[in-house]
This record gives sequence, structure tokens and C-alpha cells, in this order.
Amino acid sequence: MASNVPGGGDERALPAVRAALERAGYTSERIEGRLGTDELSSRPIDTAVHLRRLGESDDFSTLARLFLLGDAVEAERLEKAAAPVPIEELSALGLVSAAQGRVRARVRLVPHGDYYVASDAGPESGLDVPFDHVPGIQAPSVTLAKLAVRNRGGHALDLGTGCGIQALLAAKHVDRVVATDVNRRALGYAAFNAALNGIDTIEFRQGDGFAPVEEECFDLIVANPPYVISPDASYAYRDSGLPADELCRTVVQKAAAHLTEGGFAHVLVSWAHPAAGDWAEPLKAWVEGCGCDAWLLHYRTSDPIAHAAGWLRPLGESDAALHTDALDRWLEHLRRLQIDAIGYGAIVLRRRDGGRNWIPTDPLPLERLEPAGPHTLRVFAAQDALEQLDDLGLLELPLALTPSHRLQQTLAAREGAFVAESQTLELTEGLRFAVGVDRHTVSLLPHFNGRRPLRDVLALAGETFELEPEERERFVPAALPVVRRLLELGFLELR
Ligand SMILES: C[S@@+](CC[C@H](N)C(=O)[O-])C[C@H]1O[C@@H](n2cnc3c(N)ncnc32)[C@H](O)[C@@H]1O
Repeated sequence: MASNVPGGGDERALPAVRAALERAGYTSERIEGRLGTDELSSRPIDTAVHLRRLGESDDFSTLARLFLLGDAVEAERLEKAAAPVPIEELSALGLVSAAQGRVRARVRLVPHGDYYVASDAGPESGLDVPFDHVPGIQAPSVTLAKLAVRNRGGHALDLGTGCGIQALLAAKHVDRVVATDVNRRALGYAAFNAALNGIDTIEFRQGDGFAPVEEECFDLIVANPPYVISPDASYAYRDSGLPADELCRTVVQKAAAHLTEGGFAHVLVSWAHPAAGDWAEPLKAWVEGCGCDAWLLHYRTSDPIAHAAGWLRPLGESDAALHTDALDRWLEHLRRLQIDAIGYGAIVLRRRDGGRNWIPTDPLPLERLEPAGPHTLRVFAAQDALEQLDDLGLLELPLALTPSHRLQQTLAAREGAFVAESQTLELTEGLRFAVGVDRHTVSLLPHFNGRRPLRDVLALAGETFELEPEERERFVPAALPVVRRLLELGFLELR
């Protein structure tokens, strides 16, 4: 069991700690500016390079060496960087330990947006950590944070809060947050991080799954559960200890039952699906009949070897023999469960009782993802409308092209002039979908101004294209599915 969780000492010192970190310019932007990235691996081999890039010149580098890279710093330098907070105070708070003129961090403490977030020191992606290790903000944490719909007010649940990042972000826009975790140390960190950031609207409860909130419903639920399908139960943050994808299915189904009408849940998931089949099929079975509309998002499918190799890579870097054994064990486990493809993605639920719920499926473009709350609301509004409308109804709708788009054309010179070879319409926010569009669609797009009904836009376009009468007849039926798809993806919006 890892020992230290910050939070002893006098919490009244925390505003001064925070102010000192800010004064030293210890920000994500500065880290990115000085080290070239703020997604730092903490593998020793990389840390050695980061330390050399950072140098020792100023208070920022003292704090980054200590709290980000886990290096020891001279006490004198830290006195200066953290002033007026004395090292004894940082030590009493459980943040550092000092000996013989040198200070080491007892936690990792990093900026994230306008928050500071403490988590366990030690290898972020390593496997040489205890069961109750509390990692910091990882790539999936950021994915979940970007996906969340951020309506103002109401109550939120952060299930499996870890270091508390999702709860901190929810506290910015809801009235009250409940943050739960099965790991007591995680709750210690989450509570410390709330106090460090001056947030007092989060309630922390320990327990398994939804047990700590049995009777309660929420307007927002976020969960980044330990979704890795494996034979192991080695880390609370990674392994559910349940067979295959049972934990994810349970979390999704229980989240649906704990939403208020109109409330949203966002759950990161991993699941087994037939290699040759539709990735979405098992997820549809999870959400069918749950009383929610469900948007199923998929970013990757791995075969068993890629899956095991990816999760076990850190072990490969530290112990070749253990790595080989673990690979065999994981592959045997997956073979026994007859799992030949493992999907990764997210499920967005919105509670809507009393109607037929819809379940669209889309890719989740992970690398290009931007905060997606407004985009998600647009997609849900479009799906609601499309469920109700036949083609005649659709033709009466005034639609607008969302301002956050970009059209990319690829041109090639043909017989003395540049001609468009292909055109891609991209969203510049949210899930940043990109779709290929033909030249007719390109000509239509600027006419979606939110005032003209679709019928008039298509009539106008028909005239511009100088279509033959029979082409004109085919034009509207051909355009309608394209318009539907652009609405479903959030390129067009309802007015
Ligand atoms: C992948 S971490 C996510 C942490 C954080 N929410 C984030 O987004 O970075 C999963 C968290 O779920 C917690 N957890 C694992 N099993 C749980 C369970 N059965 N009930 C509640 N929390 C659980 C772990 O202790 C861990 O803190």
C-alpha cells in the first residue's frame, strides 16, 4: 500500500501554496513552451532529457523539476520558488520531504488549465506501483473531460474520481458534485485537490460503483472506469476484477438509471466484439431499453496481441521475463473468453423517458477532439428532430451551416486550369468530424443561413446548377440523405 496522501498540515496554507505556484509561472503553457509538450512521459529515459531541456535557471524550473519530473532540488532554491510558504509547511501538507539540504516531492503536482492537481509520484504509465496507486491526469481523462456536456446548474456525479479531475471540472458549472471511488487514497487526493483549488461544492464518498449514490439521480454523470479487459486485478485504476467488459456494461446501465430526465452521462468504455462483425452491436444490446438516447462512439479496435502488448508495454521496459509471462497469460485469458477484437470508445447517454430512444453510432476522432459539449447538444437536437420528421417535414426546416467549419479543396491543374479533385468538409470544434462532399453539396452549403427552409435552398441550388428537368427531379431525393447526414453529424443545425 502506498503511504502518502497529501492533506495533513494546515489547509489554511493552501491558498498561499497555490499563489506561489502561480507566481512562479508554473502553468501548462509554460511547460509546453519549455519542454515542447505537456504530455510528459515519466519514464526515466525521457525524464533525463526533460531535465536537461529545463535547466535550473528560475523558480519555474525548480517547481517543474520537483513536482513534474520528480527530481530532487536544493532546499534553498525551493525556499525561493515557494516563498512565502516555508518548506516545513509544504512538508506538513505531505507535498515534499527534505533531508540534508535537498528536497524531494512526495506527490506529483501539475497544472491543468487553471487548476493544480496532485497525484501519486512515481511512474505515470509504469506497472511497478501498488494496487491503490492514484495516477494523475491521463489521455483518457482529457478525452472524457472534452466530451462532457457542460450545462449550468444541477447535480453531477463523478464515478471513480481518482485524483478528482472530472469532479473539479464539473464543479465549475454545476451546483453540487458527488465524487466516488472504491479507493480511499484516491478520495484523499481528490479532496486535497478540491481544497487546493478552493472548491467546496464536492462531496466525497467511498464505495463500489453506484452503491454510494443508491437512491440519487444526477443531471450529469461522468465515468472513466477501469475498463481494461485483462486477467489481472493488480491496479484499482486499471483493472475491474470482473470478467471481460462486465464493469463497463454495468456502469453504463446503472448510469442510465441514475440520470434525471434530460440529464447526460458520459462513460469511457472498452468492450469485446466479433472481429468480423459490427463494433456497435454489443453496445446496442447494453443500452437497448435503458430509457436513454445513446450516442455510441468508437475510436479503436485492437486484436488480442495489440491489446495485451499496449497495456503491458511498461512491463516490457522494466522486466523482459515478467513481460513474456504476462503476455502469454493475457492472451490465454482472451482466448478462453473467445475474445478476438477489443473496442475502445465512449457512450453518451441522455435520459428521455416515454419515447422510442435512438442509438446512433459514429467514429470518435480522438487526436483531433476539442471540447465537445455544444457539438453534442447540436447532435442530440438534430437526432430528436430527425426522429419526428419525414422528408416533407425536413424540407420545411430552416437550417444553418454551423460557423465552426472549414472546407478543404484539393486542386489539380487540368488543361490549363485548376480543378477541384476532392473536397472535405471539417468541423473545427467538438468531435471535428471530416466528411467528403461533392461539388453540388459544396455549392449548397453557403445557402444554409438559418432563414430559408431547406425546400427553398434546394430550389435555389437547382437553378444555379442549370439542371435538366429530369436531373432536377433526381436532385432533391439525392440531396435529402446528404442533408440528414450533415444534420446528424452537427455540420447543419436547426433554427
Ligand atoms: C481510470 S481511473 C479514472 C480517474 C479519473 N476519473 C480520471 O478521469 O482521470 C478509474 C478510477 O475508478 C476507481 N474505481 C475502480 N473500481 C471502482 C469501483 N468498482 N467503484 C468505484 N470506483 C472504482 C479507481 O480507483 C480509479 O480511481
